[in-house]
Amino acid sequence: MKQESQEDHMELREAIGRRRSTRFLRPYKPVEREKIQRMLEAARLASFWGNVQALKAIVIERASASPEVIAALPVGTAIGGFQFRSAPVVIVWCIDYQAIINQGDRLHELAEVGALGVDKEKTHAYLDSTLIPFFKAASERIGGAGITEVDCGQGIAQATLVAYEQGLGTCLLAALNDRKMRKALKLPDNFKIVALQTVGYPAEDPATGGQRPRLPFEERFYLNGYGQSFPRNPKVVEELKQQKMLQDPAPSPDRRAELQWLGKAYGLSDVFGDEIPAIIKDLAQAGEESK
Ligand SMILES: Cc1cc2nc3c(=O)[nH]c(=O)nc-3n(C[C@H](O)[C@H](O)[C@H](O)COP(=O)(O)O)c2cc1C
Repeated sequence: MKQESQEDHMELREAIGRRRSTRFLRPYKPVEREKIQRMLEAARLASFWGNVQALKAIVIERASASPEVIAALPVGTAIGGFQFRSAPVVIVWCIDYQAIINQGDRLHELAEVGALGVDKEKTHAYLDSTLIPFFKAASERIGGAGITEVDCGQGIAQATLVAYEQGLGTCLLAALNDRKMRKALKLPDNFKIVALQTVGYPAEDPATGGQRPRLPFEERFYLNGYGQSFPRNPKVVEELKQQKMLQDPAPSPDRRAELQWLGKAYGLSDVFGDEIPAIIKDLAQAGEESK
């Protein structure tokens, strides 16, 4: 049996350290389907409440998608509609609410494989008499707690790390108006788009000028109650730097020049977000059409 080695940890930690929101992707370089498949396989293995597996995805591959699907990609987001126009792949991550309705079947599957309960037969009976009716009655509360979105986040995060581990870049983008996409992708009513993710080979230095700012560790994590910061051991910090999980913070000295160069190559103005008028027009049009 393979022993747990330092290297195994390094790979995961380095992938975490290398992940960035990569906004500049090479539009001319398609992504191998195998690499996308590995991302999806990683998402599939993520843990879900009650094993409902509500995270579903539609992969839009620029090279093979219909013109109608490409035209349905959003005109913009709060920062950077150009990302949709240049990404060779966009993953449309969705929640399938029907999966929650089917939860009882998933629980029985867990019982069947010994992942739920000690005695299989008694567990099946208990599921039918008590647990499944309880979940049904509490479904609104459970949904309201955002737990399904947590599951989706876990799946997307795993896929994202596998993307970086394979040398790809990605950026998650919120879709402000999904009307056109729903129609073009023929999404069923029980699907909700949670986020779009651009995927491709980075056109910028994969380090994107360094790790993006984070609030101090001590301001985010506590021990045994709010207020008492979880102690941050400097030795662990040093170890994680060695393992490339903690990397140089942004910006690198050449980031400004790189951005100017990228801005010219992508035909961007000096600020992100100049597609806001187009977004407002798009949303207004959606409002008119829904009247
Ligand atoms: C759910 C979600 C939605 C996001 N939406 C956008 C977006 O619409 N446009 C964008 O440029 N970045 C978007 N981002 C990326 C964040 O801006 C980015 O994660 C943050 O600035 C930190 O940078 P980093 O991911 O490189 O560490 C989104 C990230 C998440 C997790």
